[in-house]
Amino acid sequence: LNDGLARTPPMGWNPYNAFLCSTTEQQYRTAAQKLIDLGLSEVGYQFVNLDCGWQGKARNASGGFTWDTTAFPSGIPALSTFIHNLGLKFGVYSDGGFFSCDFVGGTAHYIGSLGHETSDANSFAAWGADYLKYDNCYSGSVSYTPPYFKFRSPLHAVSPTDFVNFNPPIQIEPHYVTMRDALAATNRPVIFSICEWGVQDPARWPASAVGHSWRISNDIGPPASWDNLFRIINQVVPLTQFAGPGGWNDLDMLEVGNSGLTTVEQQTHFAFWAAVKSPLLISTDLTRIASNSLNILKNNRIIALNQDRLGKSISFKRRYTNDHDIWSGPLADGAFVAVIINWQNSRRSLTFNLADVGLSSADATDLISGSFLGRINQSHTAVLEPHGVMVLKLSGTLTPSPQPSFQFYNAASS
Ligand code: GLA
Repeated sequence: LNDGLARTPPMGWNPYNAFLCSTTEQQYRTAAQKLIDLGLSEVGYQFVNLDCGWQGKARNASGGFTWDTTAFPSGIPALSTFIHNLGLKFGVYSDGGFFSCDFVGGTAHYIGSLGHETSDANSFAAWGADYLKYDNCYSGSVSYTPPYFKFRSPLHAVSPTDFVNFNPPIQIEPHYVTMRDALAATNRPVIFSICEWGVQDPARWPASAVGHSWRISNDIGPPASWDNLFRIINQVVPLTQFAGPGGWNDLDMLEVGNSGLTTVEQQTHFAFWAAVKSPLLISTDLTRIASNSLNILKNNRIIALNQDRLGKSISFKRRYTNDHDIWSGPLADGAFVAVIINWQNSRRSLTFNLADVGLSSADATDLISGSFLGRINQSHTAVLEPHGVMVLKLSGTLTPSPQPSFQFYNAASS
């Protein structure tokens, strides 16, 4: 949305990947305090966002939105005040259908906002919401299969024919437009996060005209897995061109800190999400986070990629079949970032050819370690861990490659 909000991707915390829908006000308060104490707010994580499990199961007598008074005895306005008093921002979660996605005991459900958009947007704004994640269960929306791919392992090169359902007959979901307008009418700046799984083609479903971010895939988990990361990395290939200030591809909340991924995989996950300009929403138990995961989340050089004011996503350049990927994109200061992912399950030496990003020579900085590598000509070789990543900032005099070998994936031609 071109309304001045989310000029860079939102950063914050959401409980879902760690706590699912079992949340309490105390968990949110603790997480908010942890964002401060662990130095996460300082590096940019500002939002504390509700997910499923905070809502009531019935509206009040005047049709207003309610919350679960057992789990949130002090109430949502008090939680919002607590979070704001810490200097943080507060996000709510609702659903564009009759109920939200979470089943309660298999029969009753938490309330959704369909048909109550104006009243609910007013309530959320009155409670001080700065962000709304808007889910899509029970909305009666056109059902479709998000575009999956013919491959589920990096055994194939990416080609347009891999995107078998690239143009599903998706129409814009009117209930998202209704909520967008209801939020705008409150005059409170509220980031609108569209949680419709797999908005694929902004020409048909112009998500960037409806929200500040849009999910591109089914849930990342839980549980966290390398397979899910690989799936989502593939799913964003044709969509990177649509990200920009005010509208971001949402690759789903982070799994950094959760079990199921090695530390190296968490690093690759974080670096890729940052460089592709996904919102960076930590979704782990901050009272138990390991220092290696915390360090990944606090790497200022990687965060700077995400928050770069140019707001251009890296895009897919080349897949070396069953071996590694090359992605790159421009930065505001005229430099480029290259992200090289090792698909191999083994520690190995990997040679990055600059021609794959259209260059033959550049100054290079390893953004994970911060080491300046000096001038690199033609290629750079490094040892990568299983599923590890190389993130290079390419700067200085950028000498173009006479024969760029990269192959842009062109969604328009599919
Ligand atoms: C959907 C969303 C998730 C989470 C759950 C809650 O699956 O995609 O991010 O909000 O609902 O039930």
